[in-house]
Amino acid sequence: MKMQAQDFRAMKSTKPIAMLTAYTCPVARGLEQAGIPVILVGDTVGMVEMGFDSTRDVTIEHMVYHIGAVRRGAPNTHIIGDLPYNTDCNPEVALESARRLMAAGADSVKLEGPKVEVISHLVRHGIPVVGHTGLTPQTAKSFAKVGRTEGEAKRIREESAAIQNAGAFMLVLEHIPYELANHITNTLSIPTIGIGAGPNCDGQVLVINDALGLGDYWPPFSKQYAHVSQSILEVAKTFSREVESLEFPNNIIQFSSSGRR
Ligand code: KIV
Repeated sequence: MKMQAQDFRAMKSTKPIAMLTAYTCPVARGLEQAGIPVILVGDTVGMVEMGFDSTRDVTIEHMVYHIGAVRRGAPNTHIIGDLPYNTDCNPEVALESARRLMAAGADSVKLEGPKVEVISHLVRHGIPVVGHTGLTPQTAKSFAKVGRTEGEAKRIREESAAIQNAGAFMLVLEHIPYELANHITNTLSIPTIGIGAGPNCDGQVLVINDALGLGDYWPPFSKQYAHVSQSILEVAKTFSREVESLEFPNNIIQFSSSGRR
């Protein structure tokens, strides 16, 4: 059964939450089959799938397209749709953007930063919201860890509390010191989901391309569970060699002539 905001709240401190991003139908199908309870259609799609240098290039139309694909692959999984850069610039614009993502198949939306008026407006209109603080790529000048000075740590602690108080049901903590994530996790009543924020969050999220080893850059905090880029290279080289040597499709033609097709 598809999980909703209150189910994730109930998991806090009881069962760690495993979240992965997905952008396509077949990947989403695999995540649902594996029992992943929540898929994030993140605006990282712009960087890891579309070749942009920044998530700021992602549009609401891109997100609608990818959320639709993920929903078709994972009809029974909670999907969080990321609000792209500037589509949450004020409460009314954010509500219209969020409704487009929900109509495309999202169950909730995520937005970056302590936009408390936007969050409370969306929640008042029945849209479940996931917050995101620490490193916030839409506005960050670099991908370096944040929250290492006492001033920054204080700001992130305060933002986390404000995001919760505005009504968010979950909070992504990105690339902050482990002790800071631990403190925030222990202080908040909503679950925290870490990415590069250490082991003490209530759950973890990885960008699926990082986990698959599909790409050419992996953040230092991600784990590659497979090496799909390497497999692509090997498949393409083998295919090319077999076409040139006439090995393919001869073996397939022999197989087909046996009456299987
Ligand atoms: O867009 C995204 O995929 C994200 C994750 C890095 C948390 O925000």
